[in-house]
Amino acid sequence: MTLHPNSIEARDVAYHMHSYTNLRAHQDSGPLVIERGEGAYVFDTSGKKYLEAMAGLWSTAVGFSEPRLVEAAAAQMRKLPYYHNFASRSHGPVIDLAEKLISLAPVPMSKVFFTNSGSEANDTVLKMLWYRSNAMGQPQRKKIISRLRGYHGVTIASASMTGLPNNHRSFDLPIANVLHTTCPHHYRDGRDGESEEAFATRLAADLEDLILSEGPDTIMAMIGEPVMGAGGVVVPPATYWDKVQAVLRKYDILLVADEVICGFGRTGKLFGSMTFDMKPDVMVLSKQITSTYFPMSAILINERVFEPIADESDRIGVLGHGFTAAGHPVGAAIALENLAILEERDLVGNAAEVGGYMQAELRRLADHPLVGEVRGVGLIAAVELVLDKAAKTAFDRPGQLGTQVATRLLDHGVISRAMIDALAFCPPMIVNRDDIDGMVSGLRRALDDTAAAVL
Ligand SMILES: Cc1ncc(COP(=O)(O)O)c(C=O)c1O
Repeated sequence: MTLHPNSIEARDVAYHMHSYTNLRAHQDSGPLVIERGEGAYVFDTSGKKYLEAMAGLWSTAVGFSEPRLVEAAAAQMRKLPYYHNFASRSHGPVIDLAEKLISLAPVPMSKVFFTNSGSEANDTVLKMLWYRSNAMGQPQRKKIISRLRGYHGVTIASASMTGLPNNHRSFDLPIANVLHTTCPHHYRDGRDGESEEAFATRLAADLEDLILSEGPDTIMAMIGEPVMGAGGVVVPPATYWDKVQAVLRKYDILLVADEVICGFGRTGKLFGSMTFDMKPDVMVLSKQITSTYFPMSAILINERVFEPIADESDRIGVLGHGFTAAGHPVGAAIALENLAILEERDLVGNAAEVGGYMQAELRRLADHPLVGEVRGVGLIAAVELVLDKAAKTAFDRPGQLGTQVATRLLDHGVISRAMIDALAFCPPMIVNRDDIDGMVSGLRRALDDTAAAVL
C-alpha cells in the first residue's frame, strides 16, 4: 500500500507506535483511522461506515455517541476536573460510585479500590493479596493460580497471570508465584466423546493436583474471567465454576473474578459471576464501567480481604499503594451516568434478548465449511475457523485464516477481531436485531469469499 506523504496514515506510521501490532507490517499497511462514531457504528476518514462488532476492545456498552456521557464529563470538568484519594482525601463522585458498585455486587462486598486500567487493577490485586498474606502471618502463601489462555492484561504481574504465549515471549515473563492451570476450552481440549460435565470434572481434578503438588498452604488465590475473552471467547463447560469453586473452598483459596469484559451486562446478566454462579472474594471491573469514555477500573473486595489489609496498613502506618488519577472525578461522573443509562434503558436485558438472537443467528453458520464451532453467551461470541472440520485445523501458520476472514469482513463493513483463528463478536449493548442481521450477513459473505479463495 502506498501512503501519501503527509497523509494522516503516513503521519501515523511516522510517529505512532501501536499496541498489539506487527510493527514492521504496519509500516507497509498503515492504520485504519477512525474519525467519528454514531451509536454502534464508526466511520473511517474516507466516510466508510462500520458496525463496531467488538465495541472497540469489548468496551463500550452505550455505543460511540452517547451525549449524556459527554454532558456528565463536561459538567464534572467544570466543577472539579481532578482530585485524588491519597491521605484520606475524597470527592463526591468517587464516593457515590463506590457506594453504587457495592450495591450492585452479586455477593457481599466491602470496599472499592480504584485504578485506571484492567492491567493496573490486576497488578494491584496481586500486590494487595501478597500484603494480606503477610498481614495474616502467612508469608509462604504468595502463589496465584491463573489459567492457560486467560487474559488479565499486560503489566508485569497481569501479563504473568495472562496465559497467552505472546504476552510472555521475549518479555521474560511470567514472574515467580504465578501458576497456570488448564483452560476450559471444550472444543479444543475436550477428549473425543467427553461431555462438558466430564471435562469440567477433569479440569477441577487438574486444579486440585496443581494445588497439592505446590502445597495448599502456598496458594492464596485463583483468578479467572467468567468467560475468557482475549483467549478466544471460551465459555466454561457446564458445571465448571461449581466444581472449581468446590476445590478452592476445600483449600481456603480466594477467588478473584476478572470481570473486565463480562462486567455490566455482557453475558446477559449484570455480572459474569451471576451467569455462572460464582462467589468471588475480589471482583475486577473496567471497560463498560464508563463505556471506556474514560479510563477507569475498580477492584471490589470483601471483608475477608479488606480486614487484614487494613490491619497491616495500621501496623506499617500507611497502605503504600495508589495511583495519581485513580477514582478520577470525571471518570466517576461518567461511570455513574453510564450505569444510570444501563438501568434506564435495560441494556442488560437487551444484552440477554439481542444476545440470544445473535447466538442463534451465528449458530446458523455452523454448517459453513470454514466454521468449526460457534460459541458464546449473551452479547459475546466467537466463530472458530477451520479448514478441516474433523481435524479442527486451519493453516499451518496460526491466525492466517482468522486474519483473512476478518479482513474480508472489514470490507463488508463489520469490525471484528481475529484471536488466532477464532473471530470474536462483542458489539455495544445498544445493538438491535437489524444490527445483528447486518453483522451476520456480512460474516456469511466474508466466509464465502474466503472459502472461494482457500478451499
Ligand atoms: C479480562 C481482562 N482483564 C484485564 C484486561 C486488561 O485491561 P487493560 O487493557 O485496560 O489493561 C483485559 C483487556 O482486554 C481483559 O479483557
